[in-house]
Amino acid sequence: VSQNKIRNFSIIAHVDHGKSTLADRLLEFTGAISEREMEEQLLDTMDLERERGITIKAQAVRMDYESETGDDYVLNLIDTPGHVDFSYEVSRSLAACEGALLVIDASQGVEAQTLANIYLALENDLEIIPVINKIDLPSADADRVKEELIDIGLDPDEALLTSAKEGIGIEDVLEAVVNRVPAPDGNQDEPLKALIFDSVYDSYRGAISYFRVINGSIKPGMNIEMMSTGKKFEVSEVGVFAPQRKEVDEIHSGEVGYMAASIKNVKDARVGDTITDADNPTAKPLPGYQPAKPMVYCGLYPVEGEDYELLKDALDKLKLNDASLTFEPETSEALGFGYRCGFLGLLHMEIIQERLEREYDLDLVTTAPSVVYKIYKTDGEVLEIENPANMPERHHIEKIEEPIVKAEIMLPDEHVGSAMELAEEKRGKFKNMEYLDEVRVRLTYDMPLSEIVLDFFDNLKSRTKGYATLDYEFKGYQEAELVKLDILVNKDPVDALSCIVHDEFAYEIGRELAKKLKEYIPEQMFEVPIQAAIGNDVIARETVKAKRKDVLQKCYGGDVSRKKKLLKQQKEGKKRMKQVGSVEIPQEAFMAVLTIG
Ligand code: GTP
Repeated sequence: VSQNKIRNFSIIAHVDHGKSTLADRLLEFTGAISEREMEEQLLDTMDLERERGITIKAQAVRMDYESETGDDYVLNLIDTPGHVDFSYEVSRSLAACEGALLVIDASQGVEAQTLANIYLALENDLEIIPVINKIDLPSADADRVKEELIDIGLDPDEALLTSAKEGIGIEDVLEAVVNRVPAPDGNQDEPLKALIFDSVYDSYRGAISYFRVINGSIKPGMNIEMMSTGKKFEVSEVGVFAPQRKEVDEIHSGEVGYMAASIKNVKDARVGDTITDADNPTAKPLPGYQPAKPMVYCGLYPVEGEDYELLKDALDKLKLNDASLTFEPETSEALGFGYRCGFLGLLHMEIIQERLEREYDLDLVTTAPSVVYKIYKTDGEVLEIENPANMPERHHIEKIEEPIVKAEIMLPDEHVGSAMELAEEKRGKFKNMEYLDEVRVRLTYDMPLSEIVLDFFDNLKSRTKGYATLDYEFKGYQEAELVKLDILVNKDPVDALSCIVHDEFAYEIGRELAKKLKEYIPEQMFEVPIQAAIGNDVIARETVKAKRKDVLQKCYGGDVSRKKKLLKQQKEGKKRMKQVGSVEIPQEAFMAVLTIG
């Protein structure tokens, strides 16, 4: 097809507003996929993803469409990840498009969380087509949604009305894509310049890059160069998404496709990187490339020591597919041998943990997330510490610096008060407040990353009735009065429970933590003291009483099934316990610090 018959677009939507359903309908209408194949929602391929109802990895699909005027078009739909941890991936996916469908639930209206992506789309100069979906619902109120569109600067007359569920308005959407989204404007005769918006690992062919060609073209046999690293590869296969991968001879400017080039690791095919012709390179890479940088770290330990090698293999495999995951061996006195892993954010961390447990059948104990601290020692040495347990003793420390992020909170003005209160409690420094339109406000704070890591987002959500969105980017390091809080269980310090906290809140956190741990640590055969300490000073103490009855006695005389259930629960609970010294500590205890404050 000629370039003016190509349309590249994505769909922006709040969770549950119908993005996947609409995408399915478009595929169905254009014959890219049959109704039978539709049973499984196609765009979300990972199980985990489907269950959580969030889109994590960007995927692409190509559709052939004959318009009302009888012209043949190629439409490339690029799916975008739906969470703040992956906002960089979203921005790269959008950079590969000329237009975006903004899907809004007619009964819910524009949700604050969608705003961040709308602004990203506008920044990338995308044509935005509002699609008011679920008009079949009795509670649908398209007129109200149209007014909200005015509030965010979009033209309500351009909105389409659909019911993805009942297949209403689907053709209008395709016509709008054809008529309103501009054709790509790259130049076929210039040297190759292509943007990687995703890369996945294939056990036979290595890393497969998904890209959008801006200028030039790409075909097998070509020598290509990844511009951020200068690494060169020979292209072995190119193809399109139809919707399964389908090999083609060549991919031209304006088109979207995939490439295999015997790239062993996805870290050599990074999202946001520019691919060029090694023998005839383009002058400048595309703007905006950012190497993935882990922000949050935690320790992962197998419950059974002998699973250590298995854990290593599993992490190696996941890493092939996920350039932003990092890990290094680590030993804990309490937990034994494990790995310290780095993640983009908390959701990324949870996803990796779940995949390890499900896909690799590992039972893991994870420690509370931490950020990287810079420790300036009195002897002049500077350490970067991502595990609180490794912090030097207090008298060896000159000063400590912690990572600070620029946090942007977007929300309706009625919730500004509660958001500001929370940000200040969490050591945020107010920077700016700005009205984006009549009701929507953007608050900017400088905040310690460690506070964001500890549940800030959930807190923010609950205080603003779900309306606030959060976006943050790393800003730099700043000195802070921080101390290491140690936890002693049965008089022994448990290194995996140590955390680094602000001096001002240390006593309070120590007391709360000891209380929580008392709840989490089950009664043992003997009394177990739990203490919080800073250096040699014990600042809090709780006691877990000695056990009296066993589980079965508790329901003596009860019916059998109840007993069975209890035993089963106990067995399951046991799986996630780690024997530390003479005390069994359950998984929840290692995360207790997340549940306080
Ligand atoms: P995530 O994948 O979780 O981000 O959600 P999504 O935006 O992809 O939404 P999805 O397509 O999974 O739809 C969410 C729910 O809304 C599902 O239960 C759909 O069946 C339902 N739904 C989607 N479109 C319509 C519609 O037009 N009318 C009605 N009544 N329900 C719809």
